[in-house]
Amino acid sequence: MPNPQKKPVVIVTRKLPDVVETRMRELFDARLNTDDTPLTQAQLADAVKIADVLVPTVTDRIDRAIISQAGPQLRLIANFGTGVDNIDLDTARNRAVTVTNTPGVLTEDTADMTMALILAVPRRLPEGAAYLKDPKNKWVGWSPTWMLGHRIFGKRLGIVGMGRIGRAVAQRAKAFGLQIHYHNRKRVSSKVEQELEATYWESLDQMLSRMDIVSVNCPHTPATYHLLSARRLKLLKPTAYIVNTSRGEVIDENELARLIESGSIAGAGLDVFEHEPAINPKLLASERVVALPHMSSATLEGRIDMGEKVIINIKAFLDGHAPPDKVHPAMF
Ligand code: 8YV
Repeated sequence: MPNPQKKPVVIVTRKLPDVVETRMRELFDARLNTDDTPLTQAQLADAVKIADVLVPTVTDRIDRAIISQAGPQLRLIANFGTGVDNIDLDTARNRAVTVTNTPGVLTEDTADMTMALILAVPRRLPEGAAYLKDPKNKWVGWSPTWMLGHRIFGKRLGIVGMGRIGRAVAQRAKAFGLQIHYHNRKRVSSKVEQELEATYWESLDQMLSRMDIVSVNCPHTPATYHLLSARRLKLLKPTAYIVNTSRGEVIDENELARLIESGSIAGAGLDVFEHEPAINPKLLASERVVALPHMSSATLEGRIDMGEKVIINIKAFLDGHAPPDKVHPAMF
């Protein structure tokens, strides 16, 4: 007989904002990772042997080997994150383990950072800022031909993946005077297209070859792995820029680095990388690449909202209700 006094064991793999951890302690037998050291695969395996609920993040690989070692008590993986490419959804489903995520609450923050990268790369923002701060430089004042970047107003932005984040990027970019183009598995409603003045491209290849800036906003799934393959990257104009705030795996990173180095692509704004935390050194060395350490959703507000969603999903599930953010493999 289950003991109603016994709180469910919830293992959280990384440090979360204090308010989230406090609430989790109140509600659950929460095992927290207060020093924030990522768990090894062996530690993850130990965790699923005793947890009723596991709360992983993008830095945990919850693969078949881990899920297969789970004890029968593990019923829910409540991911702290929207992307669920860190979890083997098929194995979870086969073992009747429910998976939830945190969609919606990081849309605006991620879209803001996407827009920041769209501006930062063509306008050389980090270069200019770093120049002034470097004591080796002595700024001699304004010059008509120095630090010239490229205008974004009036340029064509091609959004790959027109889900929540893609649309939020489109809204912002439209306000900056960019022309909105997009490719998506499904065409969005004509109402949304009209609002965003967005042009749909059924053919990703054709869209890529005509864009000035490409923004990757689709999830990483088996179908989108290297969607921007070596062949497709070569379709881009040499004046084109790429921005990626989704997942590094969607782009062939080595080929991107090579094409930027050779001048076949003008530059890139990257918040995510194919083999995080490793980054292709050519990308880091290039002045035409603005690289960020996976921080598009890194606002305190966003992380608290994500934690709140995780708690609501766990509570609903444990109370016998359908958790609001249940992941169905077909969604991805
Ligand atoms: C999260 C993200 O911070 O939610 C996502 O999909 O990419 C990030 O911004 C991270 O995934 C947390 O697990």
